[in-house]
Amino acid sequence: MVKVPTSRVDKLLSSMGYGSRNEMARLARAGGITLDAAPLRDVSKRIPVTPDLPARMKIDGEALDPLAGLVILLNKPLGMTCSHKEDGPLVYDLLPARWRRREPAISTIGRLDKQTTGLLLLTDDGDLLHRVISPRRHVKKTYRAKLARPLDGTEGALFASGQLMLEGEDKPLAPAELAVVSATEALLTVTEGRYHQVRRMFAATGNHVEDLHRERLGGLTLPDAMAPGQWKLLTDAEIALIFA
Ligand code: URA
Repeated sequence: MVKVPTSRVDKLLSSMGYGSRNEMARLARAGGITLDAAPLRDVSKRIPVTPDLPARMKIDGEALDPLAGLVILLNKPLGMTCSHKEDGPLVYDLLPARWRRREPAISTIGRLDKQTTGLLLLTDDGDLLHRVISPRRHVKKTYRAKLARPLDGTEGALFASGQLMLEGEDKPLAPAELAVVSATEALLTVTEGRYHQVRRMFAATGNHVEDLHRERLGGLTLPDAMAPGQWKLLTDAEIALIFA
């Protein structure tokens, strides 16, 4: 039999960023927390934390946020940083403010540069995060690069060679696939996530990346209708596509 975890209501809600335990006790006394449409006034009560809880519990009339184990697909806009700490706009600003207080914390799965756009995943699931970024898993990431100068035709073989050594590194890059779109545009698929990897790969050929957009990660792509800054939660089937 599978054992269902239980939690005190105040501890659960506080870990989901709704406020301190005292604030949850006050909200409950005021009737702001309901379970199956009935006010839940005693937040010291332990309740089973089942997957259907977000559909059954309301906080100030709103459905409870997703429980731990969430995976977010975001279309990262230009100019936002994948960091919890830096100054300026952060990708976390695009999510509900209370999610910044969730425990375990939500983090990006790998990073995109401030000037890179496109498919970014975030999760509070540390195991999943490590599985996606582990070089041993070879999860493919495809980037659309717009270049300052025309390709010279040698890049594909160099990137595929497994011999390209980036400046300041002591291990060559794993083979990567280049698909030429036009003289100054290409799709590059890599399996590693080294610092500024795609920009540095093109720099090694004497070129310069002007625009960089991640289109694909494993078997996941951005839905057409998802504008920059928009996000959605992934279903289990979509999460499985990462490793497809
Ligand atoms: N490679 C880069 O150079 N930048 C990114 O953001 C991702 C891959």
